[in-house]
Amino acid sequence: MRRKLVVANRKMNGSLPSNKAFLEGLLAGTHDYQHADYAVCVPHPYLFQAEAILNGSPIAWGGQNMSRFESGAYTGSVSPSMLVEFGCEYVIIGHSERRQRGHDTDHSIGERFEVAIKAGLKPIFCMGETLAEYEEGITDLVTIRQLNAVISEIGVKNLARGVLAYEPVWAIGTGKAASPEHAQNVLSFLRGHIEMLDAEVAKNIKILYGGSVKADNAAKLFSMPDIDGGLVGGASLNTDEFVAICQVAARRLG
Ligand code: 13P
Repeated sequence: MRRKLVVANRKMNGSLPSNKAFLEGLLAGTHDYQHADYAVCVPHPYLFQAEAILNGSPIAWGGQNMSRFESGAYTGSVSPSMLVEFGCEYVIIGHSERRQRGHDTDHSIGERFEVAIKAGLKPIFCMGETLAEYEEGITDLVTIRQLNAVISEIGVKNLARGVLAYEPVWAIGTGKAASPEHAQNVLSFLRGHIEMLDAEVAKNIKILYGGSVKADNAAKLFSMPDIDGGLVGGASLNTDEFVAICQVAARRLG
């Protein structure tokens, strides 16, 4: 059985004091590490602080993006090995907020996935359709295109070295989460596609749902058979709410 995973994507929020309070609150509030895993993706300047506070605890941390390149004249970028130096286990790649601004393409995300796993990081690879694509009824086509771009870059076996996240763009930051049934349908479709290529990878790979996950909708979402946890934005800015979501994930298998 796959363990649940709850990841905070704090995006470009916080300050040294508020980040500290969040990390300490999370440590104090999460007790059940037997049935679920937790991770926090903080802005790069706060990785040092995340490492100092979470080191030695079961809570992992990670970055929200990284360069495809190891070093060089890429002003403002952060390399995979820099994230590793700060103890990161995870890195988010392909988030729609970066795709939409033209920072990422299907192809460059495939490349990022590859350099991340080579560096020893677990990429959290985000996919999802826009509102227009959802209304057009082409969610499956869009997410499969995004997934296949990565598989063609790294091969299906290597997919298992990361985590997938389905985040419909229309559900991000809107307070309008996808219905558990919609999210389940998409995740089951994606897992089924992977299964045709490699049944073992399909069985073991974690697929998260992201988009307006809150303490009061997490239980229904996490009870779906193919939803292995959540990638949580806004609700991770409130320590109590995020801790409550972690507790829901722990209970699902408890
Ligand atoms: P919200 O939880 O704020 O909708 O954000 C989701 C997200 O983008 C996580 O990566």
